[in-house]
Amino acid sequence: MNRFQFLKHLGLSGAALLTALTACQTGEVAPVGPVDFEVDLNDQDSLPLSRVGGFIVRNGVVVARTTANTFVAVTHTCSHEGRQQVTWRNGEFYCTAHGARFNTEGKGMNKEGQGGLTVYSIEQKGNLLRIHS
Ligand code: FES
Repeated sequence: MNRFQFLKHLGLSGAALLTALTACQTGEVAPVGPVDFEVDLNDQDSLPLSRVGGFIVRNGVVVARTTANTFVAVTHTCSHEGRQQVTWRNGEFYCTAHGARFNTEGKGMNKEGQGGLTVYSIEQKGNLLRIHS
């Protein structure tokens, strides 16, 4: 039984099946609805956010620490060809698939990035970041 057959066996179909298959391939799930989750900066898996330039990917969202006091959250899914390969590097969001570049407002900085990225709101209360649509 292959992955597709297994997921169909679980009763998944349509968009749910596509989402599950994508998650299996990338290890991440792209947001399909409103985004609303919290990141605890004290959690071990949030450690990359303790330094400027660090980032994490959670719930299909890239959360980057862009300055000492600033975090920015964008979709992990690139607008170029839909690959979930958006990262943060050298002061910009960057897709490792074909090199799309985006600024912290989600605006494309080259031809591959011309479709832009969805940027999510962040509210910080102490060590908790709430990321939401
Ligand atoms: S999918 Fe991101 S640059 Fe092509």
